[in-house]
Amino acid sequence: MVNPSRRSMIVGNWKMYKTIDEALAFIRTLNPLIQGCAVDVYLAVPFTMILVLSDAAMDTSIIIGAQNMNDVTEGAFTGEIAGKMLKDSGASFVILGHSERRLYFRETNEFINRKVKRAVKDHLLPIVCVGESGLERDSGQTEEVLRAQILGTFEGIESKDMEKIVLAYEPVWAIGTGNTATPEIANEAHRICRTIIQEKWGEETAKNIPILYGGSVKPENTKKLMEQGEIDGLLVGGASLSVETFSQIVNYNRVTVEGIGS
Ligand code: PGA
Repeated sequence: MVNPSRRSMIVGNWKMYKTIDEALAFIRTLNPLIQGCAVDVYLAVPFTMILVLSDAAMDTSIIIGAQNMNDVTEGAFTGEIAGKMLKDSGASFVILGHSERRLYFRETNEFINRKVKRAVKDHLLPIVCVGESGLERDSGQTEEVLRAQILGTFEGIESKDMEKIVLAYEPVWAIGTGNTATPEIANEAHRICRTIIQEKWGEETAKNIPILYGGSVKPENTKKLMEQGEIDGLLVGGASLSVETFSQIVNYNRVTVEGIGS
């Protein structure tokens, strides 16, 4: 399993978009554009294309993963997918607890916690999402919400296993809305997350865990976000669907297109 140890990573989350042909064309076009880039590039793709894409990405530096999984290894759970099936298809990582799963599929911290433990056992790198809603932020509950989500989703996980996990701070009010958190707001929320982790798992774990920011990341705001000391990478939804915008984000520190990186 990858141990990212705060290496910069940029993760595209394709959600429920693209056919296999479109996805293959995307990888073929993206690969030459990201040669020598300074970050690790991850793509969280629909289940149906993990096998084909992990094969197609074999000779590239692109890492293929999934967007969800179940918390048990197998069983009578119609429509669900197990971590070992993802691994078997070539996935290296899995996004867990995305706010869309929490909201539309009623996923709780307890359920996500069981998935995180299963993913670690199945040698998949879990990218675990937390984040407050606009209402919670406006009523001053951000820290409380982050604390409940972090302590809940990582309950019972030992420090040695925390090294095999990535956290993603994704404020719900910033996802798919165009309202990116300012770099300062994002950095401050990351600092809060790291403090919560330090209190429970100690300084070493807090120092080593990569924390990604997600929510309306675009080529125009990437550089400023990535310059923040607490931000180790990005989780990109909408802007990861086009090779043009995604490659600009990945190449944020060397792109010369007007307006980007400014
Ligand atoms: P967005 O999505 O970049 O489209 O806001 C981010 C995410 O949901 O991971």
